[in-house]
Amino acid sequence: MYTLPKLDDFSPAALDRAVAALIAAAETESSAVTNDAEFKIFRDHWMARKNGILTQVNDLWLKAAPKEAKKDVGARVNALKTAVEEIVAAAEKRITAGPSLESQRIDVTLPGIKRPLGAEHPIIRTKNEIVRIFQRMGYSVAEGPEIETDYYNFESLNFPPNHPARDTQDTIFIAGQENKPQRDRLLLRTHTSPVQIRTMEKQRPPVRVVIPGKVHRNDAADASHSPIFHQVEGLAVDTNITFSDLKGTLDHAMKELFGSDVKTRFYPSFFPFTEPSADVQISCFKCGGTGKLNATEGCRLCKYSGWIELLGCGMVDPNVFGFVESNGYDPKTISGFAFGMGVDRIAMLKYGIDDIQLFYHGDVRFLEQFA
Ligand code: DAH
Repeated sequence: MYTLPKLDDFSPAALDRAVAALIAAAETESSAVTNDAEFKIFRDHWMARKNGILTQVNDLWLKAAPKEAKKDVGARVNALKTAVEEIVAAAEKRITAGPSLESQRIDVTLPGIKRPLGAEHPIIRTKNEIVRIFQRMGYSVAEGPEIETDYYNFESLNFPPNHPARDTQDTIFIAGQENKPQRDRLLLRTHTSPVQIRTMEKQRPPVRVVIPGKVHRNDAADASHSPIFHQVEGLAVDTNITFSDLKGTLDHAMKELFGSDVKTRFYPSFFPFTEPSADVQISCFKCGGTGKLNATEGCRLCKYSGWIELLGCGMVDPNVFGFVESNGYDPKTISGFAFGMGVDRIAMLKYGIDDIQLFYHGDVRFLEQFA
């Protein structure tokens, strides 16, 4: 830090040299100031009323000057004070103003940073596509919890306690539920069907609803099984709903999904919550339903049968309505159909994917192909 010299030569040339040295020192110290704390030390060093450099100039230079030199020294001291004040003010401005415009200059000709946009996951895309097909037919959309009670996942869907039909759904149960009544015990829902009951509890008939969602089963992962997968459920309840309505609705939906050439067929099946129940098969869109790709090569996609099994459906069992009868679902006056389809499987068929695990690995090389 600068210390003020005593003067013994008061000639104009000597005075000019002393003033120049003082101002140069002020400028050097000013340029070293980088923050508020440093600025305060700098300012006080030069301008403190008590013993700042400018105060010392009064005593050491002005008062000490011989009479003949007083006028000369006085003029220089005034100029020097203004100069130092300006240097201090400039330093303060620099500290409070932040970075200069110059240092913020942007070269707009540089190539920039490309942010990858991302894409809808093929499962989500397929799910939305299915939901939209039904929305166009007047269906609304409902959702329900993934952690479900035994009552909604099984009992109210006509799977009585200990009924062997429960074994078809390898269930993941939440631990520590044993001291609750069975119907209140928690599990990960094995299908979206529980939201059928939840919807009918909230809404009196008529109902037309699709229910997309994630479901869980205690299945070992392989090319066609994943412990987490997705379903879209459907439910239509009204007066005079018949099996023909079910057939027409699903036939239309399959044509929308896989192209207007596909045919559907309904194969007898069993689900506890529908009676009668059916599996829906579509004619194979790869071989045109022939089971053969050409004279010598069979079609592996449909296992050489010409048909692909795609979803379950049926007329809502009167026992299911019995659980919501008090909300307007009297099986003597209303009827309905329900269906449930696997989104993953449909996405695999639509996009020609042979391993369900690819959906869950999060590998961008797979996912970016759907962008
Ligand atoms: N919940 C059945 C399952 O996951 C699928 C299903 C079949 C849903 C028939 C339905 C239905 O609504 O009517 O295996």
